Amino acid sequence: MRAITYSRYGGSDVLELTDLPTPKVGPDSVLVRVRAASVNPVDWKMRQGYLDQVMDVTFPAVPGWDVAGVVERVGLDTPELSVGDEVYGYVRKDWVQGGTFAEYVAAPVRTLARKPARLSFEEAAAVPLAGLTAWQSIRRAGVTQGQIVLVHAAAGGVGQFAVQIARALGARVIGTASAGNHDHLRELGAEPVEYGDGLADRVRALAPGGVDVVLDYGSDDLVATSRAVLAPGGTVASIVDAKARDELGGHYVWVRPSSTDLDELGALLEDGRVRVDVGQVFELADAAAAHDASATGHTRGKIVVRVD
Ligand SMILES: NC(=O)c1ccc[n+]([C@@H]2O[C@H](COP(=O)([O-])OP(=O)(O)OC[C@H]3O[C@@H](n4cnc5c(N)ncnc54)[C@H](OP(=O)(O)O)[C@@H]3O)[C@@H](O)[C@H]2O)c1
Repeated sequence: MRAITYSRYGGSDVLELTDLPTPKVGPDSVLVRVRAASVNPVDWKMRQGYLDQVMDVTFPAVPGWDVAGVVERVGLDTPELSVGDEVYGYVRKDWVQGGTFAEYVAAPVRTLARKPARLSFEEAAAVPLAGLTAWQSIRRAGVTQGQIVLVHAAAGGVGQFAVQIARALGARVIGTASAGNHDHLRELGAEPVEYGDGLADRVRALAPGGVDVVLDYGSDDLVATSRAVLAPGGTVASIVDAKARDELGGHYVWVRPSSTDLDELGALLEDGRVRVDVGQVFELADAAAAHDASATGHTRGKIVVRVD
């Protein structure tokens, strides 16, 4: 099968289009014919060696954890899925080797759910990692109707899902982004504020009594800003700053694969309360350009890689 691989850590120039054997399928996995994958910042960070202390990497490694595709073959005990099912998933195992930037990926069934019919394969591939991160961090923070939620990096892959999910739960959302993304945030249902110096004052101007929840998907000084804007009893969930938990309490979230969570999120996608914004689409052979686009740190919406 055609696959993108890297055989050492480095820049995007270590990515190569190669030919690999089709993966074997373990007893509780299925083989997915990949129609689309998507890029997350962790993909290029991992390619640079950022997770070397956390996860075993076997070279040559195929990058990519997000997939949308069709079940081609089932494992020995996978009653949940059948050949021909259209699925999407966050195919993270506890080691790194066989990712989704390939024509086929072997995916444990616990990482997959049925693709919402309303979504194209490209839209569906944009959802799992970022959407589950938003979903799980919102749940950990306990967002409820009527709360005021501050979302840092609200225009990013995770932030856009979080804004829409929090709104669907009945929360009022204030979201940080650069000025060029403010109209977009308004369309998603958030009140935009620019990040940088004076952020806490700008948030306080919109929410004089403070915010109930801070969802941090990328910010400059989480601890100081949170102290300045949180209402009494408020809480923080961060996906980027584990140390802040020591000072602020709250939660640090590392997204987990979950069929159940994907099904629940899928219901919001199916009825249109959460929409998917695909910013750019690349062909598999252009995976390096897709990684580089994500690494700019200022993309709007998700970057998708089309596989066939
Ligand atoms: N722990 C986990 O499980 C987990 C899961 C997913 C992602 N992550 C991490 O979370 C981060 C966000 O991921 P993502 O997929 O949403 O990234 P992304 O799609 O690349 O989004 C980046 C966003 O950050 C915004 N931004 C840049 N500098 C900012 C600042 N100083 N303050 C506020 N916003 C700023 C940008 O907005 P503008 O363009 O408007 O500047 C852009 O919309 C990454 O570091 C990623 O590695 C962690």
